[in-house]
Amino acid sequence: MKIEIFEDNQKLCVAAARLFASLIRLKPDATLGLATGSTPIALYQELIRQYNEEDLDFSHLETYNLDEYVGLAPDHPQSYHCFMNEKLFKHVNLDPEYTHLPDGQSENQEEAAVAYELALQSAPLDMLLLGMGVNGHIGFNEPSDSFIASTHIVTLTQSTIEANKRFFNSADEVPRQAITMGMRAIMGARQIVLLASGSNKAESVRRMVEGPITPQLPASVLQLHPHVHLFLDEAAASLL
Ligand code: F6R
Repeated sequence: MKIEIFEDNQKLCVAAARLFASLIRLKPDATLGLATGSTPIALYQELIRQYNEEDLDFSHLETYNLDEYVGLAPDHPQSYHCFMNEKLFKHVNLDPEYTHLPDGQSENQEEAAVAYELALQSAPLDMLLLGMGVNGHIGFNEPSDSFIASTHIVTLTQSTIEANKRFFNSADEVPRQAITMGMRAIMGARQIVLLASGSNKAESVRRMVEGPITPQLPASVLQLHPHVHLFLDEAAASLL
């Protein structure tokens, strides 16, 4: 793992955005994996700035997001479809036909998971952006007794519901289930860029980097991947 430590979230996001921008310039038709959450917002802002000011071209890219809540319509303000539109898609020249998120609204969730997995298998990710939950989840691969390879439906842990209630009016409104990319597509990405900021991530960052590889701390599996860049702020790196 290549670890870089920055003063704050803004600085780590700008540095990580540079890595994405370099890839996009080198390979304009790259396939990217994307994350939501508060950590990468400034990364998306920096990519939008480069689109506006430095001609960064998104028109030939294809993107796959990690996850979506089950039961939220794409136009629900807390859905990840809506997040991606607001934070990135509507500001750059991505082709909407080539931006993909799992379908959280399908009547048959298992079928939706299989369909997303098949799409991912035909489009290996060149670079995958990850955040990490306070509990060490990546995507919505929650701590459990085993790693799950394929896109799947997951019941969110209490810790994730607590962490994500800040985006909703109350914890009761946080969906209990999500559909998430599994470990096969995550580990199959050519390069992984994981961002973590804040002292509440420090213990999971330490376990991800220095602890045993265990599905109880899903991000620890990244120790097995040959090209992981960790962009941390000082608070998240404080226990390393
Ligand atoms: C989001 C995702 C999650 C988040 C993680 C951290 O698509 O897959 O794993 O990256 O929960 O979220 P923040 O950045 O809000 O702390």
